[in-house]
Parts: sequence; C-alpha cells; structure tokens
Amino acid sequence: MKICVVGTGYVGLVTATCFAEKGNEVCCIDIEESKIENLKKGISPIYEPGLEELVISNSAAGRLTFSTDIAVGLKDAKLCFIAVGTPPASDGCADLNQVMTALDEIGSCIKHSCFLVVKSTVPVGTGTLLCKRIKSLMLERNLDINLEILSNPEFLKEGVAIEDCLHPDRVVIGASSDEAKAIMCELYKPFVTEDRIFIMDPLSAEITKYAANTMLAARISFMNEIAELCDRVGADVVSVKEGMASDRRIGKYFLNAGCGYGGSCFPKDVTALYHIGESQGLDMTLSTAIDKVNRKQKELLHIIVRERFGNDMEGLKIAVLGLAFKPHTDDMRAAPSITLIRGLLNCDASVYAYDPVAMTQANRSWLPNDVNYVDDVETLLKDADCAVLVTEWPEFEELDWKKLAPLMKNKILIDGRNIYDPKKMEELGFEYYCIGRSRRPTK
Ligand SMILES: NC(=O)c1ccc[n+]([C@@H]2O[C@H](COP(=O)([O-])OP(=O)(O)OC[C@H]3O[C@@H](n4cnc5c(N)ncnc54)[C@H](O)[C@@H]3O)[C@@H](O)[C@H]2O)c1
Repeated sequence: MKICVVGTGYVGLVTATCFAEKGNEVCCIDIEESKIENLKKGISPIYEPGLEELVISNSAAGRLTFSTDIAVGLKDAKLCFIAVGTPPASDGCADLNQVMTALDEIGSCIKHSCFLVVKSTVPVGTGTLLCKRIKSLMLERNLDINLEILSNPEFLKEGVAIEDCLHPDRVVIGASSDEAKAIMCELYKPFVTEDRIFIMDPLSAEITKYAANTMLAARISFMNEIAELCDRVGADVVSVKEGMASDRRIGKYFLNAGCGYGGSCFPKDVTALYHIGESQGLDMTLSTAIDKVNRKQKELLHIIVRERFGNDMEGLKIAVLGLAFKPHTDDMRAAPSITLIRGLLNCDASVYAYDPVAMTQANRSWLPNDVNYVDDVETLLKDADCAVLVTEWPEFEELDWKKLAPLMKNKILIDGRNIYDPKKMEELGFEYYCIGRSRRPTK
C-alpha cells in the first residue's frame, strides 16, 4: 500500500518505518530539511533502539523514502498519516498549530481521494474540525474528491517503540465509513490479530488516547502520594507496591514511586484532558490532581538535596546520573532532571551530568549552559559532594558502588528511582536517600 506520513519525529518515523518493514511503500515528510537530508543518508534524528537499522534496510529496499515536499509524498497515496507534534500551549491546552498547518499543506496539493489519518494525539472533536476545514479547502479549489478523516491514536513507548509498533497490544481506529474501516484493518493485519483491533467512532478514539495516558499517569501520581505518606510514617513504598501489585485486579505496571513522570506525552496529555473537560463545563477533579501531584513530585529531588545541604550550595559538586525522561531514549521533554538541575543551579551548586544518550539533546535545547557534561560515571563522581540518580538506565543499576565510592568527596547518594537496595548502600558507607522508603535527610 502507498502511504504518506507527515511529521517524521518519534512517532512518525517509527510508524512509517514499521509500515515499510511490513511491505508498504512509505514516504516520510518533514519540514526540517536537515532531518530529511540525514535520513536520506541513513542517519536517524532520534535515539530509538533498532530504528536506524530498519531505516537503512527499508530505504535500501526502496520501500522508505524521505522528502520535504508533501506533494511527492501524497502522489498515489491511499493513506496519509498526520504525525506532527501537539505540544502544550501556554494555557495547557493542546496546541494544534502543527496539525492545522499539515492539513492545509495536504489540502493545497492533494489531487485524489485519500484517507487522512490523525496519529497525533488531539483533543476530542479535532477530527470533526479537520473534516470541515478540508472540505472548505476542496471547495476553494473546486475539487470533488473524498477525503475522510480518521483517528488512529498511537500508543508506542519511546525506548521500545519498534517492538510496540511491530507488535502492538492493540490498535484503535476511529472511522465512520466501511471503506475506511476495511483499509485500516488491511494495513494493520500483519501487525495484530483481528481481535486486537478496536474500531469505534472518531470521537471515542480521540478520547481513548487521553484517557489511557491519564490512567497510567494516575497510577504513578497515586504511588507518589503513597510514597510521601510512607516517608511520614516510616513505611517502605517498595514493599507497599509489592503488596498491592500481587492483587491481579491491580497488577504491577506503573506503580513505581519516583521523582515524577516526564516525557512528551503524560504531562501534556493529562493537562490537555482536564482542559478538554473544563471546556465542556466539567470539574475534572481527578485529572487536575494527577497533574498537581506530579508537579510537586518533580521538585522532590531538589528538596531532598536542600534538606541535606541547605539552600546555599556554592562550592558543592552535585553529580546528576541520567537526564532523559526515562531510559532508552534521548527525549528530554518535561524530564524531571530539568526541574532538579534548574533548582540546583539557583542554589549556586556546580552541576555535573552524565547520560548515556541524552546529553546532546539536553545541551542543545533543554538545560542552562552552566551544566558540565562528562563522558563517564567515574569522571562524574570524582570529588562529588553528592550524587543524584534521576534516570534508571540499566547501566546505573549495574554500577559497582564499592569501587566508585572512594572517588567521591562525600558518600551521599539520592536515588530518585529507588533502584538500589538501601541496606546494601548503607553497608557500603553511603548516606542513602530515596523516595518513600523512610530515608530522608530530616529523619
Ligand atoms: N513521542 C511519543 O512517545 C508519542 C507516543 C504516542 C503519541 N504521541 C503523539 O504523537 C504526536 C507526535 O509526537 P512526536 O513525539 O513524534 O513529536 P515530534 O516533535 O518528535 O515530531 C513531530 C515532527 O513533525 C514535524 N512537523 C511539524 N509540522 C510539520 C508539517 N507541517 N509538515 C511536516 N512535518 C511537520 C516536526 O518537524 C517534527 O519532526 C504528538 O501528538 C504526540 O502527542 C507521541
């Protein structure tokens, strides 16, 4: 099948590559020329395990092409996916500018009937808006073609995006016509069994994406609230989690307390959901609270450092382990490390940081210039007054702290993801602080 994908970011590039991997002929469109030029050379603009290899092999097979010219991508395409960004606007609503611009660009040059599939996460009712807009564009151009707007929200997780995309848990399709439903089922047949394809009306599909992300974020914020209670009363949130997760109705996923959720989806989708509800006159008490708990949680690591060292950190070397919002990605959007590092710099600390893949991104657009980036954990920890773990990269779980401890000036470790065994760290002579395990400097 011939497919055009508009927006070659984390979602667009991965889905386009996976569609090509299953034998489709896919053209990726982006407005960023350097991105497209690099992709033509087989260089991925993002770090995503396994992606670059698939880009190279599918490009070589002629199934995956790249262009900045949308007319090239649309030529003979049966489906055109819109996978551009929907970042939060200053008021917290989803900013639909990229989606609207992409639609207008499609509308200005499309010449044949085609299904326009919205993969971007968009507020409920966006499909209806896009439908009206494309119809009026076609009227202006005096063109009588059928351009049905479908919803196909994406559920991939960065870091395991290829696996998620090639073997999705489920596929949600919001479509009205039988023809649209049939073509989407045909596209996804090589990816999932039929019983994992959920076809619904477009409005329900749009809500499904926000509801799913907000539910997962709710579990995290709930556990962070329980963690705070654990700290107050002397309990251990890791034991509490085990006790809860053993209940099959609850399960074990998204129950880790930590320094808050980040990334390009949860923070913005939770906020967008309560704005969508509020625009309908609803209170959205729960979604608002999930966001409130998370904003507070992102401050926690900085609070713990202050509890230990006070507000004046001049002359202190603080070593930050991990910058990306989660392991296996270089995505820095809304990462808890940003909140921590800004707070430390405001207290005049000397901040050193190491991340296996996210330092270029962090330095380019996310962190103040005063951060010192280093190439390995040894250099990071040398003469450090305190280490703060923010991202639970597997390589950090395997660190030999017995060997590393003597490098540090003070053996003080703040574990923002509860990845270490408190007793073992204390046996190694560390002052060890973590989240919800009753190990706080003020205790
Ligand atoms: N990143 C995730 O893990 C994830 C998961 C599920 C859903 N989503 C949703 O998918 C959408 C895309 O997210 P992302 O993380 O891939 O964003 P991204 O910012 O990584 O990628 C968006 C891309 O679209 C390009 N673009 C913008 N306007 C364009 C236009 N008019 N024509 C062509 N290209 C254009 C940008 O240059 C960029 O490369 C968002 O709505 C997001 O909420 C993201």
